[in-house]
Amino acid sequence: MLNKIIIAIDGTSSTGKSTIAKRLAKRLKYVYIDSGAMYRALTFYAIQKEYISKNHFDTNKLINDLSNIYIDFKESKETNKFEVHLNGMSVEKHIRSLSVSNLVSKVATIGKVRKQMVKVQHSLGLNKGIVMDGRDIGTVVFPNAELKFYLDASSDLRAKRRFKELIDSNHDISYNEVLSNINLRDGQDMSRKNSPLTVASDSIVINTDDISLDQLENKLLSHVTPLLSKK
Ligand code: CDP
Repeated sequence: MLNKIIIAIDGTSSTGKSTIAKRLAKRLKYVYIDSGAMYRALTFYAIQKEYISKNHFDTNKLINDLSNIYIDFKESKETNKFEVHLNGMSVEKHIRSLSVSNLVSKVATIGKVRKQMVKVQHSLGLNKGIVMDGRDIGTVVFPNAELKFYLDASSDLRAKRRFKELIDSNHDISYNEVLSNINLRDGQDMSRKNSPLTVASDSIVINTDDISLDQLENKLLSHVTPLLSKK
């Protein structure tokens, strides 16, 4: 049998982490886990409950609810894709909106929130054979992951990519809104006290500015393949 490993992909917003993580997981027949979707689902919950808005955040109310909030991933029968579920309901369609994007990094600063999310992430990695992307996967969630990548790219290119994705999925948004959201989240994710976005010392750093998805996939695979030698 082939060795199963954990592949951690971290980096700034919209660097193509999730696209490449999905491709890699498909190729290796691994499970892809979008850890950002978990923080987004929780933010969606907090918005609905009116615990958070632009100028207000009742962290205690959210923390008090944490033990009753259940976040997991289930495969959709319609799309055959793994979708994030909040208390049993798929919220995949709601979590990419600008209102969630503008508040998610605030929610992700809270230590107790992160602790809860990391618990779920650990359980998903118990049998290895996963590709997980996020901000703290190689540094905090799986510091012993067999393989860690850190992706980065210029903010202009990242905003162009994300803008196209959002327009293609019928979101009403401008390029400038996307760019300022990316800059806002990068700043918050890098400067927070709990699990800030940093490059793990054993991470392979890749700039995705001038590289096609096929090239990126081949580059990642060139690091993965030697680690999968038969047991
Ligand atoms: O896809 P994109 O790069 O825009 O972001 P995401 O992966 O959906 O993550 C949304 C937000 O969740 C990030 O900006 C972080 O604030 C937070 N996050 C985190 O703190 N830790 C993670 N492991 C994943 C996401």
